Amino acid sequence: MRLGSRLTRPPVALGLLLGILLTASGCEDAPSILQPRANEAAEIRNLAIILLAICGAIFLIVQAWLIYNIVRYRRRSAEEPVQDHGDIRMELTWTVIPILIVIVIFILTVNYMDVLTNPPSNMEIDVTGRQWWWEISYPAADFSTANEFYVPIDETVRARLEAADVIHSFWMPQIGGKTDMIPGHTNQSTFTITQEGEYLGECGEFCGVQHAHMRFLIFAVDAAAFSQWVEQQQQPAAAAEGEQAQAGEALFLSAGCGGCHTVRGLEGAAGLAGPDLTHVAGRTSLAAVTLDNTPENLARWIDKPQAVKPGNLMPEVAVSVDEIQALVAYLEGLE
Ligand code: CUA
Repeated sequence: MRLGSRLTRPPVALGLLLGILLTASGCEDAPSILQPRANEAAEIRNLAIILLAICGAIFLIVQAWLIYNIVRYRRRSAEEPVQDHGDIRMELTWTVIPILIVIVIFILTVNYMDVLTNPPSNMEIDVTGRQWWWEISYPAADFSTANEFYVPIDETVRARLEAADVIHSFWMPQIGGKTDMIPGHTNQSTFTITQEGEYLGECGEFCGVQHAHMRFLIFAVDAAAFSQWVEQQQQPAAAAEGEQAQAGEALFLSAGCGGCHTVRGLEGAAGLAGPDLTHVAGRTSLAAVTLDNTPENLARWIDKPQAVKPGNLMPEVAVSVDEIQALVAYLEGLE
C-alpha cells in the first residue's frame, strides 16, 4: 500500500496532526513568541495574528465551497454532465479578490516595518556573534561582557550586530524578530522591553556543530539596577584573595589563559579570542548558557571543554586536579 493512500485515511491523518500539536506544545521552557515582553515582539505577534486570521478565513471559505460543490454536483446518473467553458465573472472574481488581499497584507506589513526599524533610541550596544558565544560591548560605558547582559526596561536599545567568523542570527523570541549577523556587514536590531525579567536569546542561523549551544540571557531591570550593574561591570577585576586563588591567578597567566581571555586589571590577560572574564563569577551560566555557573561545572569545563561542547575553540590545557581547583578558586572570586 502506498504511503499517500495511508495518510488520507482520516484516523491516521488526525493522529499525526494531534501528535504534531502535542509535540509543539510540549516545549514548556522555551520562550514563546506568543508571549511578547517588548513592544517590537508585540507588534510582530499582532501582525502574525492578523495574517493568520486572514489566511484562516480564506482556508475556511475555500474548504466550505469545495465541500458544497462536491456534494451538490456529485455524480447522480451515468449520463455525462453539461460541459462548460470559461466565465468572465468568475475569472475576474478570483483575480481581483486575491490582489486586494495581497494589497492589504502589503500595507499592514510596510506599516509594521516602519514601527520596527529605526525608532529613536538613546542607548547603543554592540553584539558580536562568535562560534559559539556572544560578545556584548557597551561603548558608552567602555566595557565588554559575554553571553549575559543587562538592559533597562522601557528604554529603546539599539543593538549593532556583527559576526566575527560565520553568519549567526540574533534572536530573543519574546523581545523581537531575528536579525542576521553577517561578517563585514553591520545590521541592527532595536527593542524596548516592557517587563522586568530574565529572557533567553538564541542563535537563529545554523553556524556550526555547537549552533544549538549558542544562547544568551538578557536581564531587563529598572533604571537604578541597570546603573548599578554598569558601575559594577566597569570596575577592574577583584584581586585574588587567599593562597589557592593567588596560585590560580598565577597559573591563569602561566598556562596561557590570558592569551585568549581578558581580565581587566590583570596584566598579561588581554586576549580577545574568548569571553572577557573580568566579572565571570557574576554570571549565572557558562559556555553560552550550556552549563550553570557552579564551581563543579567550571572545573569540568576547564578540565575537558571539548567533552562539554565538542568543536568549540577552547583548547584542553594539561593541568592537574589541584591546579584546576586553584583556577576555579581564582575565577569564582571574579565577581
Ligand atoms: Cu551562531 Cu548558530
